[in-house]
Amino acid sequence: MTDKIAAAWAHLQQVSQATLGQLFAGDATRVEGLSGRIEWDAEEGTSGILFDWSKTHLDADLIAGFESLAQACDFASKRAALLSGEKINNTEGRAATHTAQRGMGDAADVEEATALHARMGMLVEAIHQGALGEVNHLIHIGIGGSALGPALAVDALARDLSLVDVHVVSNIDGVALEQAFAACDPATTMVAVASKTFTTIETMTNAASALKWLGENGVSDPSGRVVALTANPEAAVEWGVDETRVLPFPESVGGRYSLWSSIGFPVALAVGWDEFSAMLAGARAVDEHFASTDGAANLCLRAAFADQYYTRLRGCQTRAVFAYDERLGLFPSYLQQLEMESNGKRVTASGAPVDGPTAPITWGGVGTDAQHAVFQLLHQGTNLVPVDFIASIAPGDALDPAHHAILLTNCFAQGAALMAGGNMAADGKDPARAFPGNRPSATMLCDDLDGATLGALIAFHEHRTFCNAVLMGINPFDQFGVELGKKMAKDIEAGGAEFDASTTALLAKAGL
Ligand code: F6P
Repeated sequence: MTDKIAAAWAHLQQVSQATLGQLFAGDATRVEGLSGRIEWDAEEGTSGILFDWSKTHLDADLIAGFESLAQACDFASKRAALLSGEKINNTEGRAATHTAQRGMGDAADVEEATALHARMGMLVEAIHQGALGEVNHLIHIGIGGSALGPALAVDALARDLSLVDVHVVSNIDGVALEQAFAACDPATTMVAVASKTFTTIETMTNAASALKWLGENGVSDPSGRVVALTANPEAAVEWGVDETRVLPFPESVGGRYSLWSSIGFPVALAVGWDEFSAMLAGARAVDEHFASTDGAANLCLRAAFADQYYTRLRGCQTRAVFAYDERLGLFPSYLQQLEMESNGKRVTASGAPVDGPTAPITWGGVGTDAQHAVFQLLHQGTNLVPVDFIASIAPGDALDPAHHAILLTNCFAQGAALMAGGNMAADGKDPARAFPGNRPSATMLCDDLDGATLGALIAFHEHRTFCNAVLMGINPFDQFGVELGKKMAKDIEAGGAEFDASTTALLAKAGL
């Protein structure tokens, strides 16, 4: 930690902490001051997302302190390095070029992404037009970043109109694959094998079983039904996928940042190329805001200021995200990988031990379901949990408008209750019925939930994650922490390796 960074943190520790009630009482313009919109062109004019951070404890002093911290951390030059394709993933010696997939980045990276998208678009179009025969189902096989984004986007966007019925299978547990088989007609099923490395054991084992299933169920050329989505096209060809059906993406696109690349193939197949392009355009709108806005006016950086405040200065070990939208049910699990695999680190980018907590545990669920399950702890538990709410003004359903009104009312009521607190007892005195309040939340209110909005929401969180990493001095683009367990599983499989007594006994019990 440089002296400047240490000084910025030391100053932040001194900033006095008003309650949320005091902050609102003291500033009539607080809502406008701490809210901002990111917009993009839509059919009916503009569409966008309102980011309301007014129910967090950020105030002018904290924001000034965090702006000094961002300066001390060289935020502007690190952002420029990210967006210009410099090798900012220093431990792996490569750039992080996911924004180039949306048209922002080094010219050569953007050109490459455009060419690869054109190829992917042609294959999607060809399949829609029947060039590969009748295709009604796609079994998309991948794991982690090769599955969570597609699963989220298909679930969010392909409910009303799915051009092809997509099943995302990630787990090596055969139960998952069998469930997809049961829902698909082998004669009209294609298989997408999605793996950046094309070596991941779960994906390659599931892919082999899917081909076997096709072969055993009357498909004469199972390999002819496969599309590979990968940064290792040679391995895909060697595995048996015809070159014309290998959709590559650059090595510099990280797995958990890869939805925008050919990993998004199932999304384009399910919702069509236009909606997939809209998703890229929504993300691009956030890229533009992120690239061109300084200080706390940059909404991604502002969110990271609040994240750092709660994690480092208030000791919050978790952050919860509740989507008041059934279509975003998979958003918390998508964010878990994005945030925890990126920033769950114990050393800085230079390898020194970090000097404070890094990523909190991301968790969450869907409202209103979660209200009836976990909100007790949020309101009255002893853990302080900053909460994000996400909702859409336009309904996703065509039922009585009462449904959507109750949904939104509940969303806003939860944020208000967390902040205000109170006592539910008639005499206001029963401690069991007391709510301390002063509990923070942020709200992301979308005009609508369509492809562009989903792209914008995801890109916002990508950049928020990056901002947090810069403020903590860590490299968010590697993930060595996942490797040791994988190696041990391989050692067990290979046999002969020695383990602790507990593991040895468990293996013996399971007959392994
Ligand atoms: O094990 C973690 C991880 O490497 C993730 O970072 C990645 O998204 C996932 O595995 C899948 O990897 P691949 O796309 O190479 O199969």
